[in-house]
Amino acid sequence: MASLENKVVWITGASSGIGEGIVKNLAAQNVKLILSSRRAEALEEVKAACPNQDDVRILTLDLAQPDTLETKAKEALAFFGRVDVVIHSGGISQRSFALETDIEVHRRLMEVNYFSTIILTKALLPSMIQNGFGHIVAISSLVGKFGSPYRSGYSASKHALHGYYDSLRAETWKQGIKVTIATPGFIKTNVSVNALTEHGEKLNSMDQGQENGMSAEECGRQIVRAIIKEKEEVRIGGKETMGILVKRFLPGVFSKMIRKMNVR
Ligand SMILES: NC(=O)c1ccc[n+]([C@@H]2O[C@H](COP(=O)([O-])OP(=O)(O)OC[C@H]3O[C@@H](n4cnc5c(N)ncnc54)[C@H](OP(=O)(O)O)[C@@H]3O)[C@@H](O)[C@H]2O)c1
Repeated sequence: MASLENKVVWITGASSGIGEGIVKNLAAQNVKLILSSRRAEALEEVKAACPNQDDVRILTLDLAQPDTLETKAKEALAFFGRVDVVIHSGGISQRSFALETDIEVHRRLMEVNYFSTIILTKALLPSMIQNGFGHIVAISSLVGKFGSPYRSGYSASKHALHGYYDSLRAETWKQGIKVTIATPGFIKTNVSVNALTEHGEKLNSMDQGQENGMSAEECGRQIVRAIIKEKEEVRIGGKETMGILVKRFLPGVFSKMIRKMNVR
């Protein structure tokens, strides 16, 4: 794909962080945007910053309510008659030890990060296949490639995305469906502030990793570039992204390194 010109792009998690960074990068291009998350007011603010507001629609949704999502996908399709690209950036993280974490917290992480994503994807796929084109973008994480302390359930939910979307890509490439999985490292957003602790409360504190991380706008720029280049997987961030290579080529060394990781 040479550009996203005239494409209809639906972004979940568009109200803040990486999703907002993606919107900022796309808004200057000639694309039609559908912005989703729970908070209508925050989405309105993101829309207000877009130069071509006539081409932007807002669709509130709650990724923790699976029974509502098929209808939401229908509403998204109705705005411009199709969705060409869906970017699943809505998500929630975790900061708690596995031993202390309630099973309900694990279920919530899977619901918001994994099940909602595949429900929306499944609802869009038939029309994408009929159109002969569709690009699905999952925002995973470095911890979608390896486990890390304090993030057992979050890491599991992101690993699940890789299993699903790698399989889907292998099944649907002949029907014109592209799949990109992004694995960001530390990006300066509220992801740790909003992260769930062992009993499901918000952490409400900014981690050092995120505080010193790449800007959400630069992350968004790199995600948009990866979509245009039709990359299957893209690592984004600083030197922490080297963890993927260390895990792959020196798994024993990686295992010892990750034990000492003191990044909450
Ligand atoms: N920042 C990082 O370092 C980093 C690294 C790797 C991966 N990621 C991933 O990047 C994605 C975006 O996170 P972020 O860093 O941009 O954090 P963020 O600033 O906290 O943004 C999270 C987004 O998800 C939305 N969201 C959360 N729960 C939702 C729900 N139940 N229903 C609908 N929308 C919901 C939020 O919108 P509302 O509150 O308006 O609903 C917000 O727009 C996540 O999938 C995260 O796992 C982040």
